[in-house]
This record gives sequence, structure tokens and C-alpha cells, in this order.
Amino acid sequence: MSEQKIEKLLDKMTITEQIGQLIQLSADAFQHGKAVISGPFVANHMSQEDMYNAGSVLGISGAKTVRDVQSDYLTHSRLHIPLLFMADVVHGYETIYPIPLALGATFNPELAKQTAAMAARESSAGGVHVTFAPMVDLVRDPRWGRVMESTGEDPYLNAVMAEAQVAGFQGDDDTPDQQHIAACVKHFAAYGAPEGGKEYNTVDISEWRFREQYLPAYEAAVKAKSLLVMTSFNTLFGVPATANQKLMRDILRRELDFHGVLISDWAAIAELIKHGVAGSLREAADKALSAGVDIDMMSFAYARYLAEAADLSPELTRLIRQSAKRVLVLKDTLGLFDDPFRGLNEEIEAKELSSSANRAVALKAAEESLVLLKNQGNVLPLSHSTRIALVGPVASSNDLLGSWSWKGENAPMPTLESAFRSEFASVLVASGTDYHAITKSKFNAAIAAARQQDVIVALVGLPSSESGESSSLTDLQLPAEQRQLLKALRDLNKPLIVVVVSGRPHVLGEVNDWADGLIYALFPGTMGAPAIAKLLSGAVSPSGHLPMSLPRSVGQIPVYYNHFNTGRPLTYTPTDDQDRYLSRYIDSPDTPLYPFGFGLSYADLVLTGCQIDRDTVTKDGQVRVTATVENRSEVPGTTVVQLYTRQMVGETVQPVQVQRAFKKVAVPANQSLKVEFVLSVAQLASVHLDMKRRVDLGEYQVMVGLDAANVLSTEFVVREVE
Ligand code: NOJ
Repeated sequence: MSEQKIEKLLDKMTITEQIGQLIQLSADAFQHGKAVISGPFVANHMSQEDMYNAGSVLGISGAKTVRDVQSDYLTHSRLHIPLLFMADVVHGYETIYPIPLALGATFNPELAKQTAAMAARESSAGGVHVTFAPMVDLVRDPRWGRVMESTGEDPYLNAVMAEAQVAGFQGDDDTPDQQHIAACVKHFAAYGAPEGGKEYNTVDISEWRFREQYLPAYEAAVKAKSLLVMTSFNTLFGVPATANQKLMRDILRRELDFHGVLISDWAAIAELIKHGVAGSLREAADKALSAGVDIDMMSFAYARYLAEAADLSPELTRLIRQSAKRVLVLKDTLGLFDDPFRGLNEEIEAKELSSSANRAVALKAAEESLVLLKNQGNVLPLSHSTRIALVGPVASSNDLLGSWSWKGENAPMPTLESAFRSEFASVLVASGTDYHAITKSKFNAAIAAARQQDVIVALVGLPSSESGESSSLTDLQLPAEQRQLLKALRDLNKPLIVVVVSGRPHVLGEVNDWADGLIYALFPGTMGAPAIAKLLSGAVSPSGHLPMSLPRSVGQIPVYYNHFNTGRPLTYTPTDDQDRYLSRYIDSPDTPLYPFGFGLSYADLVLTGCQIDRDTVTKDGQVRVTATVENRSEVPGTTVVQLYTRQMVGETVQPVQVQRAFKKVAVPANQSLKVEFVLSVAQLASVHLDMKRRVDLGEYQVMVGLDAANVLSTEFVVREVE
């Protein structure tokens, strides 16, 4: 439809109908295909007519259900404006891919794009038009349960992954075809920095830091043409995001040039009252609308306008029309006016559910997401004949999907036991403990199984329900019961392989010392079990790298690689009292247990010879950086070569390193591979005190490493003329 036609449609709509487009209802608004006034809808005085007037719904899917609801809805819609169906297809619909943090660990944006594309294909057949993804909030505090939904602590990795996921969901065309869905990047903005890691807590960071480190991933998603953006729950610059005009109008709409639909998070408009920036729901509605929030997700704040529709001020009427137009444009972009049943297909829905193509991508993504942290004495991989005791709570729970997998149970999922039986000759399963409770009989059974077998594989961690929204923790150790079991297993003096399955970095402490082999499995999804078993058998070579630093203790948090230097940096291991007045803890090393970007391979991979093709360069120039990965072993290996830079002197302080590029490379046994990066000087731009991004002249360090902490480095100078 042309813009003119949309304007004409708006002319035909009553103000009540326009307000309706701004209201999003939850799934229980439509039952057995019909609008039903129940619970919150009664409490908020919604009439049957209001319900049929609402422009979108969240959480309804399934080809038949959506068809029924849409058919019924259209018979009630005076102007036959179709209903928009939105849902949280975060890391898969029915086939579940690794959680976003695990996708970060793959360092493989093409694969992340593929997982989003597969999820779009499955969910579009099930009637979903818009997904509330990708979540691109920068995260540095694993106490916050939602770190699992992000791709981690690095602005660059987040930006690359944000772009990849938007392209995967929406497809490569300007408008998503029927096999793709609209993306909604969230949560704008800086939701990932709540004080103390406590859910929904205040965020208070400087605008300079926000622009430098938090904004880039959202910007990348907007540049990738994400059709929607969701507001965040938190306060930023003193005002809750949902009412924040500077954030939404100045930064998002004007600077980032975002023209799509801005939706509030669930009840976030109403929460402006508790935040203390609105005295009533009506005032909250005015503030959100003025900030440019188009859709009210379940606050019933915009519904307040219905009662006064005839007397609204010209300014409110203008804002309502503007927002309604954006929603109609979105419906049109998705082709809903031509086909309100777009993409719906029971047959494809059933076929995709367990299609081998989906499962192959799910398996590959799971495999690439697993991070090998420790392999003492090359205990891994294990030969087929190894007799394995499979212990730990995950061995029996098979809880591998992670939060936001609401339809994940529908897809057939191999269990850990079956996956291990496919790889190994003898497998005994005895969990030994539940996640948080231990019984003597279970414990004894696990010890007995471990005694009988050659190698112990302990699958420990936390269940899916203990990361994700509203799952903040103050203690990041593995539960005491699991540590008790691991200690007893360690005392058996048999090879102990620990696989941590969770949605966040944990404080591993002694567990790291006890383990001979240690693997970090951020919830790997539907095909997680075969991925883990194949990794242990060596059928698959580990290639995941940490997307967040693993802290030594909660007290160290936030600990992240791209920190500033301070005036008293700790650059060595302090030995005596003179070293006391340095930026450090006196009871802990400064470094994380494992740094950002860390991940071992079964091959012995060594990085050598970091070189650049010039020592000086102009602002519009490029520097070629090369390094060689030597495989000094008899097995092939894959690793991630990471390129970092540091600006030595700037107007503002600069991080000690900033990732600029990475390459995932496979190196055949006993061979070397030269890796080349082209670093354009424009990438070195940083945010200045006037809040503008630009490149400074001067000295830069360039670093190449297989993780952030162990790097080879050299320097170059940016000059006005070469
Ligand atoms: C609240 C969450 O913060 C958001 O991420 C999600 O998309 C909405 N609920 C809808 O489920």
C-alpha cells in the first residue's frame, strides 16, 4: 500500500479505531478463536468492541489457532484491518537453538543468522508476524539472570550478532517475505546494566559511556532495518526509558533514524507511576506517547484515551495518528492487508517441527557454542570404549533448552543418556543429586556408578528457570549439594570431566581445580545432548569461546576485558607492601578466572608473528594486520583469532583493549594458517566529550590473540599525512 493509501485509511478511521492500533493484548484475550473479556480486561473496563479494535496480540501462535482468531477478528473489524501477532521467538520456536549467550560463544554470526532464519521459518508457519528479538543489551554482571538473552560483554560482538539476527529473522530483502518475520530489537536501552545485577533495577551510566559501549549494538540492529524496537524497564539518565524523550525521540528516532514501531515492554507504561514520574495512568500514557512509544503492551494506559476519545487535545490526536500510522505501515510491510493469513501453513508447521534441516543447524550451533576451558593431560577426547559414569542433576533432568523456549517441549529432543550411548560403549546414569537437594541413596548410587566406570562425566549447573527474566542471584557458585557430590567424585581419583550447563557465568572456585576436563555449556538447546556427547568423544572439535569473562568471585563483578586503565593500574602480580596503592583487591587476583574470548581446542594451537603493513596511517586509511596460527599437533583444530586495539592517548580515557574484528579459522593438523585483518582507521572512532564519535590522531596499539588476555601486540600512529 502506498503512503497515500495508508493516510486515506487513517482518514476513514475513527479516533477510537486509531487508538485501538496502539493497544496490544495478551494471549488470553482470545480464547477458542474469539475475544473474551476476562481478568485484566475486565479490570481495565475493556468492552468486547475494544478488544476487537486492539491492533495486536502477543503470545498466540499455531497455524490453526491464528487462522481462527484472525478470521473471527476480521469479521468484527469495520475496516478489515488485520490483527498483528507477536511472540517471543528468542532462540527458536519449537526447535530450540542455543540461547543467545551461547550464540555469542560460537563467534559465528553466519550461524547465528541461520538459527534466526530457521526460527522465522518455523514460527511464520505457525502464524507469528513479529518476534521480540534480538535482545542486544550489553551485559557485564552475571548476577543478572538475563545475561542469557544477550550475546555478552563485548560491544563489537554484540553489534555483529545483532545485525546477523535481524537479517536472519527478516531475511535479506527490505521487507520480510512470508517465511520471515519482523524483528524487534530490545530493550532500548541499557537494560543490561542494572545496579547490583538486580532485576529491573536502576541503570545510571554516563551518556558518554552509554554511547561508547551500550548504544552500538542497538544501532547495528536499527541499521540492519529491524522493523521494531522495544523500550526497556529501567531508568536511564534519570528518566525511565519508556518516558524518556531524549532516548526515544532524540537518540533513537532522530540520530539512529529509526522509523519503525516502538513498543513498550510489558506494563512498562503503567510502571511509570511506580517509578515516580507519572501520577496517574493517564499521565503515564501522555508521557509514553510523547516519547514516541507507539504500542502499549498490556498497561491499558493508551486504553484510557478511549473514554475521552472525543475530547483529546489536538497534540494528542496528532501523536495518536502518527503512532497508528506506524503500526499500519508495519502491517502493510508484512503484507497483512494483502494476506491476513500470511505464512500460515499447518503442513509446513508440522514438517518444520522436526525437519532434519532445522535439527542440523541446531546441532551445529550447539556444537560450536560449547567452550572447552580445561583439558589437563589431554584427558579429552574420550575413546569410544571408555566406560562412563554420567552424573549430576542435568544427567537426569535433561534441562538443556534455557529460558524463553515456550514451545521447545514440542520438538523431539535426544536425551543425554541416549546421546552418550551413541558415542560410548558403556554408560551408567546416576545423577547423585538434584539441583538443590541431595539424598543419601542418590548420592551413593552415583558414587557406586563412578567407582565402576573409567571416567566420570558430571553435568552440573542450574535449571532453565534460574536464569532469564527475573532470576537475579547474589551467589553464583554451583549449589552446595552439587559441590559436595563433585568433591566426593574427585576423591575417587578417577578422571573427572565437569560440564557446566547454565544460562550465565558461574563462580567455579574449587570446581575448576577438581576438574580434569571442564566444558562450559550455555544452554545449548534441542540438540544439546548429542553436541555434548560428540564433543567429549572427539567426533566434534571444541571451538566455542567465552562471550563473557568468568569471574573468580561475586565480589569481583563486574569484571570485563574492555575496562579503563585507571591512574594506578595493576600491570603485574604484586609482591610486597609497596604495591598496595594500586587499583586492585587485596584478597583476590585482579584477573577473571577465564578471560573473555577464551576457549581451547583439542589441537595445540599457537598464535605467532603479529605484523602490520605500515607504522603510520591517515584517518581515511587502513592497516593490514597479520598473524599466524600454528597447529602443533596431530589433530585439526578450530579457533577464534581476535583483533583488539587500544588508543594510547585520547580526550577521554580509553579501554585497555577494544575488539575490532575476529575470524573463526580451522587449522589442519601440523599446519599453519596466516590470518589477515584489514582494520580501517574509521573503526577507531571513539565518543568525545561533545558526544560525537571521531578518530583521534596519535598512537594506537594493535593486539591479536586467541583470547583477550593473551595477546601479541604492535603499534601504529594515525597522522594527518602519512
Ligand atoms: C517482558 C520481557 O522483558 C520482554 O523481553 C518480553 O519480550 C516481553 N515481556 C513479552 O513477553
